[in-house]
Amino acid sequence: MEKVKLTAGALLSPVPAAAVTCGSFDSANIITIAWTGMISTRPPVTYISVRPERHSHGIIKETGEFAVNLTTSEMVRAVDLCGVKSGRDGDKFTLSGLHKTEASVISAPLIAESPLSLECRVREIKSFGSHDMFIADIVCVDASPEFIDENGKIDLARAGLMAYSHGEYFALGKKVGHFGFSVAKKRRKHPRGRK
Ligand SMILES: Cc1cc2nc3c(=O)[nH]c(=O)nc-3n(C[C@H](O)[C@H](O)[C@H](O)COP(=O)(O)O)c2cc1C
Repeated sequence: MEKVKLTAGALLSPVPAAAVTCGSFDSANIITIAWTGMISTRPPVTYISVRPERHSHGIIKETGEFAVNLTTSEMVRAVDLCGVKSGRDGDKFTLSGLHKTEASVISAPLIAESPLSLECRVREIKSFGSHDMFIADIVCVDASPEFIDENGKIDLARAGLMAYSHGEYFALGKKVGHFGFSVAKKRRKHPRGRK
């Protein structure tokens, strides 16, 4: 079937609705960021794209640090609020009801309600028109203990993560596969010699 041609635009979907923290512990800000992703596994490098007019832009440029806090459906109101109010007009931790917790390496706090936080140090800033891309090394990962399984592995399936798709927030739901399952050999139900 022929596709409908649309105007070129930023329509990647779904994307995270990350709650990015910046500043110092006592004077911290939260900005909701959808334009984020991974650039490299080893070393672990990520990015966030931020408009220069955002209050957080100046803070991150000055401190060279931020944390990407993953978000859950339970956090949706707070996350939306941090994406429509500016830190110039008030303390978003107070406004949103989210709580601070100390990071391990950086000065900015992490969000206590977030199941997983990536502590980042900026290595480069690139301008691309409307947004500046802060390319950053992930210097530490902090996970809530309830999402670490008995083997020490992160299990985010139970975390209630949410995604952002074309202006709307969605709860991540049903698992429909796992990495490599399409080519995995099927296990026999009753291997020979066993009952
Ligand atoms: C779901 C969502 C995603 C957003 N993604 C981005 C983004 O990727 N980059 C950006 O500059 N602003 C983004 N924004 C807008 C900022 O979060 C918003 O302007 C915020 O009020 C800026 O806060 P600040 O002035 O305290 O830095 C997003 C907002 C929402 C609600």
